[in-house]
Amino acid sequence: MTLAELDAHQQQSLAELQAAIEATAIEQVRVRYLGRNGLLPALMKQLKDVPVADRPEFGRRANAWRAALEAALTERQAAAAPRETVAPFDATLPGRWPTLGAMHPVSRIIEDVCRVFARLGFTVADGPDIETRFNNFTALNTPAHHPSLDATDTFWLGDDQLLRTQTSPVQIRVMTSRPPPVRIVTPGRCYRRDTTDATHSANFHQIEGLYVDTKPVSLADLKATLACFARETMGPSVGVRFRPHFFPFTEPSVEVDFSCHVCNGSGCRVCKQSGWIEIAGAGMVDPRVYRLVGYDADSVYGYAFGMGVERIAMIKYGITDIRLLYENDVRFLGQFA
Ligand code: DAH
Repeated sequence: MTLAELDAHQQQSLAELQAAIEATAIEQVRVRYLGRNGLLPALMKQLKDVPVADRPEFGRRANAWRAALEAALTERQAAAAPRETVAPFDATLPGRWPTLGAMHPVSRIIEDVCRVFARLGFTVADGPDIETRFNNFTALNTPAHHPSLDATDTFWLGDDQLLRTQTSPVQIRVMTSRPPPVRIVTPGRCYRRDTTDATHSANFHQIEGLYVDTKPVSLADLKATLACFARETMGPSVGVRFRPHFFPFTEPSVEVDFSCHVCNGSGCRVCKQSGWIEIAGAGMVDPRVYRLVGYDADSVYGYAFGMGVERIAMIKYGITDIRLLYENDVRFLGQFA
């Protein structure tokens, strides 16, 4: 094979390609020259038979040919591709799917928490947003001089009516309306005169729990219940700890922490290096509360707990600003679909 013959093959291949109109004819040219058994690969195998002096030039031209042929092929193939035409209306094609909504993260947490407690025998109880002084404070053993009753903290609607500051008054509604045993959770909206910032809102949600029975119930039962809840929501390796605290309506009272789900308890920014995240307030129902609702304080036992829904949503989904939960921006909410 000489350089002149090589050039002749190149001319020939490009001419054949130029003459090919249909996609199948173009493909035949491609296979004839570039295919596995095509002419170009065969010529490359003969390179060793070309005189040594001519070899570099032979290789260079063969490569240039390949490049030119490939470029021309791409062009011809594009030209032979079927033209886009306006398709006739096809009534059998599926329609455009409507955008699906997603459950709001606050609603989702409420549903998840209630579902876990339902499996533990708790039913869901409900109460109104507008409460009485008695249900929200007095019956919960909160003295009239307690700062939370101040008009600076609570939205009063009159002397006796207010927007509930917690879901705890539902405990009172349930206990004044039926005898023990009661085993309820109550999700709901709460109101406080807080200035809105990244972690506070004047309007937020809590989930309250109450278990009262005529047979002994102890702090250990409370801890086991909350530990089970923790595992169900955060996974099997989560730790739970109780810290002594004070609430007027429980004695003893505790604050409940879960081990930090981000660092597994070793300390990080989310848990402020403590390894723990505060989740709930809880305790054994104070005998005074039993007396105020008309239960026999000497023969009933029980515990109560309350937790902030937004707080759990923020922890679980890594939300850093509570206000995002109320702005109803679909770009934010769509992420929970
Ligand atoms: N109501 C309390 C609050 O808003 C939370 C709470 C603490 C509820 C202890 C309880 C409880 O039922 O036992 O901070």
